[in-house]
Amino acid sequence: MIYKTAKGITMPALGLGTFELTGPEGIAAIRSAIEHGYRHIDTAVRYGNEAEVGQAIREAGVPREDLFVTTKVWFDSLAPDQVRQSMADSLDRLQMDYVDLFLVHWPGREVPMCDTLAAFTEARDTGRTRSIGVSNFTVPLLAEAIDTCGAELVNNQIEYHPLLAQKKLLASARARDMIVTAYQPIARGAVFKEPEIVKIGETHGKSAAQVALRWLVQQDNVAAIPRSSRIENIKANFDIFDFELSEAEMATISGLDRQERKSDFEWAPEWDAA
Ligand SMILES: NC(=O)c1ccc[n+]([C@@H]2O[C@H](COP(=O)([O-])OP(=O)(O)OC[C@H]3O[C@@H](n4cnc5c(N)ncnc54)[C@H](OP(=O)(O)O)[C@@H]3O)[C@@H](O)[C@H]2O)c1
Repeated sequence: MIYKTAKGITMPALGLGTFELTGPEGIAAIRSAIEHGYRHIDTAVRYGNEAEVGQAIREAGVPREDLFVTTKVWFDSLAPDQVRQSMADSLDRLQMDYVDLFLVHWPGREVPMCDTLAAFTEARDTGRTRSIGVSNFTVPLLAEAIDTCGAELVNNQIEYHPLLAQKKLLASARARDMIVTAYQPIARGAVFKEPEIVKIGETHGKSAAQVALRWLVQQDNVAAIPRSSRIENIKANFDIFDFELSEAEMATISGLDRQERKSDFEWAPEWDAA
């Protein structure tokens, strides 16, 4: 495993995304991932599966302190009292005393950002989370959160894969000692249709998904959270630590950028220009 550290908080560079992993099949998939070696699990109130995540972790029998668990508050609950309630409800469902990372899932428009982030800081200071961060924040939103509100953010979780470069956000995260967690890291499977990635994989005996994941975790300050419901894919996505991409291969993959975004919604912020 490769680890990433920001502001003294260390996370495994590869985690399991759990969107749509619900019910008994979801529990089985998450438990299998932990049994296979995953120690970083990403959930959210919005995924409706925090209870499943908690159950899978208990069934896997791995000590809590060996795991890195992230959850997120939905953007309809960003007033300070709602943040406190959301955090309490998440911990109840997870049956945990704390999470490792607590994120604003999407920036809001109604509640002043500094009020929301003050409640996040309080959750950290009272031990409900070891660290705080955001998701889907742009460079100007990060500046507001850190420079205006003074929030000590360790993480920005954003869509990032070979078809969507994030140069500005990466530079900003590195300058601010933050980790970027890449969501949709295999572009929901689109990397399999990229001949250059497939070809690079062939030289290493790896799939396009494995190449895309390796390309991400090999970059400074970058972690990735692929999701799969199939144990063979969950295992394959973890099998990326026995090979290395050359600088030329890294550059070839970076050159595939088409600003192809998979997650764009009416509540999204105005994205940074490429
Ligand atoms: N913060 C946010 O706003 C946000 C937004 C979106 C996602 N996320 C997080 O990021 C995680 C990942 O994103 P995602 O699930 O949308 O996209 P993804 O991880 O890029 O792709 C998931 C898709 O790829 C398939 N897949 C996974 N591994 C594979 C492999 N080795 N070979 C072939 N197919 C494979 C899966 O199908 P199978 O199940 O059939 O393997 C699934 O259909 C989510 O689960 C969630 O935790 C966060």
